[in-house]
Amino acid sequence: MNKISSISEYNEEYQKSIENPEQFWQDKASTFKWRSKWNKVLSWDFNTPKVEWFIGGKLNITENCLDRHLELKSDKIAIIWEPNNPEEATIKITYKELYKRVSTFSNVLKSHGAKKGDRICLYMPMVPELAIATLACARIGAVHSVVFAGFSAKALAERIDDAKCNILITSDGLFRGDKELCLKAIADTALNNCNSIKSCIVLKRTGEKVTMLENRDYWWHEEILKVNDSCSAEIMDSEDPLFILYTSGSTGKPKGVQHHCGGYMVYAEYSFRNVFQYEENDIYWCTADIGWITGHSYIIYGPLLAGATTIMFEGIPTYPDAGRFWDICDKHQVNIFYTAPTAIRALQAYGTKVLKKYSLNSLKTLGSVGEPINEEAWQWYHKNIGKEKCAIVDTWWQTETGGILISPLAHITKTKPTFATLPLPGIQPCLVNSEGIEIKGNGVQGNLCLKFPWPSMIRTIYGDHKRCKEVYFSTYKGMYFTGDGCKRDEDGLYRITGRVDDVINVSGHRIGTAEVENGINEHPLVIESAVVGFPHPIKGQGIYAYIILENSSISEDKLVTEILETVKNEIGSIAKPDKIQFVGGLPKTRSGKIMRRILRKIAEGSLSNMGDTSTLLDPLVVDQIIKNSK
Ligand code: WT7
Repeated sequence: MNKISSISEYNEEYQKSIENPEQFWQDKASTFKWRSKWNKVLSWDFNTPKVEWFIGGKLNITENCLDRHLELKSDKIAIIWEPNNPEEATIKITYKELYKRVSTFSNVLKSHGAKKGDRICLYMPMVPELAIATLACARIGAVHSVVFAGFSAKALAERIDDAKCNILITSDGLFRGDKELCLKAIADTALNNCNSIKSCIVLKRTGEKVTMLENRDYWWHEEILKVNDSCSAEIMDSEDPLFILYTSGSTGKPKGVQHHCGGYMVYAEYSFRNVFQYEENDIYWCTADIGWITGHSYIIYGPLLAGATTIMFEGIPTYPDAGRFWDICDKHQVNIFYTAPTAIRALQAYGTKVLKKYSLNSLKTLGSVGEPINEEAWQWYHKNIGKEKCAIVDTWWQTETGGILISPLAHITKTKPTFATLPLPGIQPCLVNSEGIEIKGNGVQGNLCLKFPWPSMIRTIYGDHKRCKEVYFSTYKGMYFTGDGCKRDEDGLYRITGRVDDVINVSGHRIGTAEVENGINEHPLVIESAVVGFPHPIKGQGIYAYIILENSSISEDKLVTEILETVKNEIGSIAKPDKIQFVGGLPKTRSGKIMRRILRKIAEGSLSNMGDTSTLLDPLVVDQIIKNSK
């Protein structure tokens, strides 16, 4: 069943996967339903780059998520949906119902002209229909592009335009804690500036009044009545695209990371089963949003491929109070719980008294993802949530990797706080120095790369293959570069130390400094800005913005408010700076490059040693900034 059950077996499997990767992955892939088998397992070249898995194989991922389970598990619960407001009813959807609802919605998409290869954008709350629509796209061979519902109209429009989506699926509004957001109004603003969208399908969630444009906007509940509930799955090539998901980099606009059908399917299931040591009838809950890769791989695809019961939660950890996560764990007898360090730290701040009401006895395995987990949060999670009997799996991966690459296997790998520990079978990490030379041996530190392909790795950046090559395959020749720094301890265990590029990780969300700067610069009174990350007790990293303003009579407080509003409109609330400092100048080299290293030090509050400042154009600027730092 593709599941490792001891550390010696892990070692054996790992060995096999390195010695004969093709045989290894061929064995894993053969447990799935393929319409026809591949004729070659792997072909790769990191210079082009071109990576292909299970070449010539034909399949549809939804037949593996749904149809395949109907014989034995049709009445098993596939999705448990927990609403934002605990007083609203939970919804449970069986595999058979999910199959029917996905088929129905597939027919709706088809009735709007959708076909294989089209891009379809989803901008929705965390409701079952989001999973249904995602799977419906996959069923008809359309490429889904899920955009997190916290992004602004402008960010949504950019993503729709970039992928030239022809259908948008959204909802009237969404509930988040005690807030309500009118998604359709945001979508309308976005659509005013996009011309590729022909149909917009709107789910009724909050019931608030929305404007429906004739011949463009259609209600979900009306559309599903017009079609039947059977839809045969489109037969896809293993290397046909499955989805695009936008993520930020150190420069430029967000990149549409593209994943393909066959390899993604095999790795999503394999990693899910092994990392969490999923056992039949476990109740599994990942608290991420489907707008991020964690939600794609470990709320939808991984668990459904494994025939598991997956929980989808609409709300936030602190609504109606800070016990909500634990309330849901007890209510549904959750066995495997997967969340982000930022959530753990936020809940930790409420103290352990809140926990007294809950037994948490059903929990076996606790996961962490999205950012380095600090020792204190690790211990708190282990002691207070895991009661010292649960395995903690600190899972390292990225949007581009499609699945978890470095992580303990629950209850199998010996854990070490703050360490993601060991690579999964098939994964060949290596540390390199700044010259790109591999650093061998243990007790070392370097930049984290991967030197061999794995099935769910990024295939391209939508519409910009050149950028894919530049960003990931050009820094170090012949290797995929992750952008992360990493240590390997004396025992060969890996610890991710954080990004080494201009990417900030705010509450597990990846934000490019350039993107935030561009947002800030949209304010008419901003001349120039520089953004860096700084250590934040809850968010992991916060955003610190240094801004040069034009002269004006407007108060600084008012300008701060306006700038935050600008960033919210340009990107979304997640990109709003935590600290803004207005400065007279920025530390630049003679060639005009901003010395971010210095700005980072100031933002961290380590003001004593600025390092080498001899190349600065005007060293006095630094003294000025330090004097007024926040
Ligand atoms: C970046 C990827 C992959 C799911 C969510 C984030 C950081 C992720 C860990 C971890 C230390 C981690 C890295 C990585 N990261 N997981 N367990 N320990 N750092 O996906 O938005 O693509 O971000 O998140 O810096 O490069 P993403």
